[in-house]
Order: sequence, then C-alpha cells, then structure tokens
Amino acid sequence: MKDTKDTEVLPATRPLRGTASVPADKAISHRGAILGSLATGTTVLRGYSPAGDCRSTIAAVRGLGAEIEEDGDVVCVTGWGDGGPAAPDGQLDCGRSGTTMRLLSGALAGFPLKVVLSGDPQLMVRPMERVAEPLRAMGATVATAAGGVPPIGLRGGSLHGIEYELPVASAQVKSAVLLAGLRASGPTTVIEPVPSRDHTERLLRAMGARVVESVGGDGPRSVRVDPGGLEALELTIPGDPSAAAPLLVAAAMVPGSDLTVVRVGLNPTRTGLLGVLRRMGSTIETVSESGDKSGDAAREGEPIGVIRIRHRPLQGTRVGAAEIPSMVDELPLLGLLATQAEGTTEVRGAEELRVKESDRIAVLVAGLRALGADVEELPDGFVVNGPTPLHAGDVTAAGDHRMAMTFAVAALVASGPVRVAGMQTVGDSFPGFMATLQGLR
Ligand code: S3P
Repeated sequence: MKDTKDTEVLPATRPLRGTASVPADKAISHRGAILGSLATGTTVLRGYSPAGDCRSTIAAVRGLGAEIEEDGDVVCVTGWGDGGPAAPDGQLDCGRSGTTMRLLSGALAGFPLKVVLSGDPQLMVRPMERVAEPLRAMGATVATAAGGVPPIGLRGGSLHGIEYELPVASAQVKSAVLLAGLRASGPTTVIEPVPSRDHTERLLRAMGARVVESVGGDGPRSVRVDPGGLEALELTIPGDPSAAAPLLVAAAMVPGSDLTVVRVGLNPTRTGLLGVLRRMGSTIETVSESGDKSGDAAREGEPIGVIRIRHRPLQGTRVGAAEIPSMVDELPLLGLLATQAEGTTEVRGAEELRVKESDRIAVLVAGLRALGADVEELPDGFVVNGPTPLHAGDVTAAGDHRMAMTFAVAALVASGPVRVAGMQTVGDSFPGFMATLQGLR
C-alpha cells in the first residue's frame, strides 16, 4: 500500500476506558499456516489473523500446493503431503511480509525445488542474507540480489544439520533454520544471543517435532531440532500483544485511563513492554485465562489472558540489548511514551529497528521532533528527554504500519490534530485499528 492519503487524528478529550480485543497474533498465524503446510493432515487455525501480511502467507503456501479452506477467521490448511511443495507458477509473492519470505525460505530449503521468492517494493530492500547464509551452510543453493536483498533464488535439496550462532537476535532467522532442520540429515542447533520469540519452537513441539532448548536466563539460548515430520493440529490463536501495545501505550499516556485488553497472548518472549511500562510507573495487571496471576501456560501452548492498565505518572527508563527482542516491535511506541515521562529514557542495542518495514529509528525521531519532542537519534536507538507537551503537526509513517499506529497514538496527547501520511498501512497488522482506538476514547 502506498502513502496516498493523510489521516487527521484528533487529541483525546477524555480518558481511555473500557475493554478491547485485538486481532489474532500475526507471528503465530504465519507459523500456523507454514507449519500446517509442512504437516501431514489438516491443521485447523481458529482466529487466524486478518493482517495483510498473514494474507500474504496464505497466498504463498497456496501457490506451493497447500490446500486452504477459510470460514470466517477459521483457516484449515491441508499440507502438501509426501510429494512436497509444488513449484509455483512464476515467482512466489510474499507481499510486504518479511516473516513470510524468511520463514518460507527455511521451510522450502529441504525440498528438491527451484523457487524465487519476491514481493512488494518495500520488501525488496530488506536484508535476506541473514537467512541465505545459514541455509547455504546446510547445503541449499541460495542467491540474493546485490546488497543481500530479495529476490531470493532458492534451490533446495539434501541438507545436513548445523550448529548456527545467530549474528543478530532474530526470531525469523532462528525459525528459518529450525524449519530447514526438519529435513536435514542430523540435528540442527541455533544459538541466539538473547532469547527471541519462541512461537516456532512451541508449535514444532505441539506438532510432534523433537525440540530441545537450553534453560533459563536472559543470556544466550540454544534450540536444537531433530529431523522429522509434523502432524496437523488444532490451534486457537491468541490476540496479538503487539496489536495490544498501541492501546496500552495510549492508556499509559492519557490521564485517568483504565483499559483492559482481553484474550491476548502473554508469551513472556513477547511481553517485554509490560515490564517496561511497570518500571515507568503504570499499573499493570495480567490474569491468565486459567485464572491465576502468572500468565503462564503449558510450554507447548501459548499463554492467553487479560491485561489491565491504569494510568499513573511516568518516569524515564533505560532499555538495553537484553530486553529488545521481547519488545522489538513496540520500541517506537516506547519512544513516544517517553515524551510523556519525567526524565530521560534511553534505548540502546536496537540497531535492528533500522531494517524493519522502515528505518524506525529515523522515522520515529523525525516524527516526534515534528510534534515538539526532545529526541536524540543514536546509531542503535534513541534518547528522549521528557516530559514535553506535543503539538499539532504533520508526520509520515513511511509506509510502516507500526509507525502509523505510533503517530496516531501520539495525536491523543497532542494539543492539536496530527496528520499522519500513510495511516492505511495499519492494515498490514491491525485492520480496524482506528475504529478500535476511536471506540475507547
Ligand atoms: C517476527 C520477528 C521480529 C519482528 C517481526 C516478526 C517473527 O523480526 O520484528 O515483526 O514473526 O518472527 P526479527 O526476527 O527479524 O527480529
């Protein structure tokens, strides 16, 4: 989608109150469709995400021969079975979705198939050598364009297991290598510098793969997968904590707010923002569906629960590399939140933000400055001095759904309207975001 139209978002005139639900988890939806395509039998995904990116995954696996039936938000995926994936007609279109391209590269690498993975212009500038390199080390033939960007030309085949230390804490790269490992001749181990989201590991295990993880701590974590097939399963997908985040941050900033988000994922590898919000002063309660207060659930499943946030005065904080993966998509919102907090907030170790759907550090700093914030750009993060009143202004989301939502939330605490160029990109992850926000104000 192009930035064709500006959307004016008005300041909040009263607190955000009430209960909201958010679209199903995007990361789990992608994985459900891809792992379901690899599995024997029919996988039933209840509450598949309506996000544009997840539609791209459906279209791509269909193009590879998986059978997809949809009934509302229930998606049934019948895997391609013993014959493996079929060569698609022409290039395999991954739309704007980096997760689709990276995870599918891994999933396809063990099959004797030639495929070219391509997508929209925004995806065609994103780094893909990070998946190409380990897949080559496993025995696949993988080419990327000059600069390591798409299209990815892949010729899969006989793979052997490797031990791979991730140069960046990326759940997408980890997942690609683990999925390739299912078809390798021996075990495959991925070592990540800091634990990243573990949805792939949970789903692999639930579908019958043998996955062994090193335990505990915030430091390096290793995950080993043994070769083997997957069995179909029925999965209910929780609400997306990254879609809940703009609503939570809005409530954290607007005095008097008291907001509850229901049926949302509480996987601890995704909820870093909640810890940071607490540290900054917000009152946050989580209650798991089973009724206890821990938000934990069986390791194979995905914890689901309720998050309640009440506005309190905010203080600045520091966020470093160890916390980044658990809130990687929420960092622009944290930058905004910091403008309303007393003192300095510093985010470091977040250089990955520069290669997301936009350069999120540059776009955030430009947008917040245009609204009157005191923000310093760092190579790997940013520093915000607060609190500063925000004023009316024009900002651009740079074609990035997370930036569009960040700036729409900024408007709530501005003294006049904020015009956001590219608001419609929110559909990539949260169709109906403006209506949900509107319903709470
Ligand atoms: C995702 C992982 C993160 C995140 C992206 C989705 C995933 O990317 O930013 O929105 O589904 O695995 P990286 O793994 O590149 O950090």
